[in-house]
Amino acid sequence: MSERLNNYESEGHQIIHGDALEALSRVPSASIDLVFADPPYNIGKRFGDFHDRWASDDLYAKWAYKWLEQSIRVLKPNGSIYVMTSTQAMPYFDLFLRERLTIQGRIIWHYDSSGVQAKRHFGSTYEPILFCVKDPASYVFNGDSILVEAKTGAQRKLIDYRKSSPAQYNAEKIPGNVWYFHRVRYRMPEYEEHPSQKPEALLERMILASSTPGDTILDPFAGTFTTAAVAKRLGRKSISIESQEKYIKIGLRRVLGWTQFNEQALSPPDKTYERKNGQRMPQNLTAELFDALH
Ligand SMILES: C[S@@+](CC[C@H](N)C(=O)[O-])C[C@H]1O[C@@H](n2cnc3c(N)ncnc32)[C@H](O)[C@@H]1O
Repeated sequence: MSERLNNYESEGHQIIHGDALEALSRVPSASIDLVFADPPYNIGKRFGDFHDRWASDDLYAKWAYKWLEQSIRVLKPNGSIYVMTSTQAMPYFDLFLRERLTIQGRIIWHYDSSGVQAKRHFGSTYEPILFCVKDPASYVFNGDSILVEAKTGAQRKLIDYRKSSPAQYNAEKIPGNVWYFHRVRYRMPEYEEHPSQKPEALLERMILASSTPGDTILDPFAGTFTTAAVAKRLGRKSISIESQEKYIKIGLRRVLGWTQFNEQALSPPDKTYERKNGQRMPQNLTAELFDALH
């Protein structure tokens, strides 16, 4: 069944309001340089009208396989895809993707989770990311754009004698596969009202590594449009899909620079506080969301 998709576009950035699978099925094959997919994780979050809970892990995986298949179809032969999901669902994605693509990296996004502190198990402080390419012999990887400080050896000015002519350890290196970035906190300028906003720094590393200026990046589950906002800042083009109107409005403001939608002002989150249970609490935030973010 074909459903209506609303489309908004300006200067190389396209926003599609509708279902990811439906929208993806209309994207031409082999037209996208990089896909970043951060779907609902099947862990019971609320995204506007959408409740992130499938009847079983199996049904969630079957749903995911459909948009993963489409994401692979739209990728160029030298394209890459980064996929996130919950730690418990990732094995399904991994088994599915490794039969269709080459998994070039299994990345851990590690963060400090000061919000909910575990009492009888080990607290969750990471989310997994799969980095896959279509052709391991030919894919974009700009290692020089994402260098980080190499602490071991270089800081102490040690000499690396394993080299044919011994030289000092490099001061910079390509990051390993455990990436530490803060979660988006209320006080950060990039903060938007959404239960699962990813930090710009996380997207920046993937986009710099796996695309070049002018390339097109597709995000089938845009949320707060982090991918498109970073793509725009870095001179890339973007296609973003999102099913919830309340988040589409964030994209129209954050990516296309709109100030109005349907005669309604589009404004950034109002960060005024009131006191609740002795805590400073944003006026317009539910207690649940506030806890999850801090
Ligand atoms: C994990 S969030 C993405 C967060 C995003 N990466 C960010 O940085 O803000 C998943 C998003 O997918 C949206 N979504 C859920 N089902 C969808 C569907 N079938 N098609 C398109 N978007 C969907 C939700 O509304 C939610 O905003």
